[in-house]
Amino acid sequence: MKAIVAVDKKWGIGKDNGLLFSIPADMKFFRETTAGKVVVMGANTLKSFPNGNPLKNRTNIVLSSKIKRDDCIVINDIEKLIAEIKKYPKDDVYLIGGAMLYKTLLPYCEQALVTKVDADGGAQVFFPNLDELKEWKCAYSSESLESNDYKIKFTTYENLSVKE
Ligand SMILES: NC(=O)c1ccc[n+]([C@@H]2O[C@H](COP(=O)([O-])OP(=O)(O)OC[C@H]3O[C@@H](n4cnc5c(N)ncnc54)[C@H](OP(=O)(O)O)[C@@H]3O)[C@@H](O)[C@H]2O)c1
Repeated sequence: MKAIVAVDKKWGIGKDNGLLFSIPADMKFFRETTAGKVVVMGANTLKSFPNGNPLKNRTNIVLSSKIKRDDCIVINDIEKLIAEIKKYPKDDVYLIGGAMLYKTLLPYCEQALVTKVDADGGAQVFFPNLDELKEWKCAYSSESLESNDYKIKFTTYENLSVKE
């Protein structure tokens, strides 16, 4: 499984149950990377989507103790979620948020695709700072580019100690 996330300069990822920024180049990267794949998310992230609907053209797996719906796979327990994820090829599974799910499932991710936004979005929720975790190493960083007046970089971090 790979985590995919956009962070601000403080590793902030969201506020008021929404994203911090609207960045077309990052939206495109997210869309193209996850198209046809399996996306794993928490209930709040599902709620944050337009009309609270799952993402099209992807298998949506949602962790929630409350939600009952049949347009996505809802799982109410973290151990069951980990078992469900193992049914798919690991390169096909993307952890897409939010803060609670990233924190819980990051040890199971081989990679994190981190879009870094050179701004402070005033976040209320955060991604773990991978530069401070000894098992995570930055393996790739793109040149800086601009989208919607934001300077961004696409980076890849590798987990040197993946939990099975
Ligand atoms: N920047 C980015 O790339 C990015 C990506 C995704 C999300 N976000 C942002 O992240 C924020 C949402 O993050 P969040 O931490 O509030 O929510 P979240 O991780 O999306 O969802 C949390 C919910 O998942 C369920 N859950 C979590 N652990 C569980 C467990 N062990 N067993 C059963 N259910 C469990 C609970 O839902 P129930 O109450 O239904 O049980 C919990 O309230 C939003 O601001 C969103 O925009 C940012």
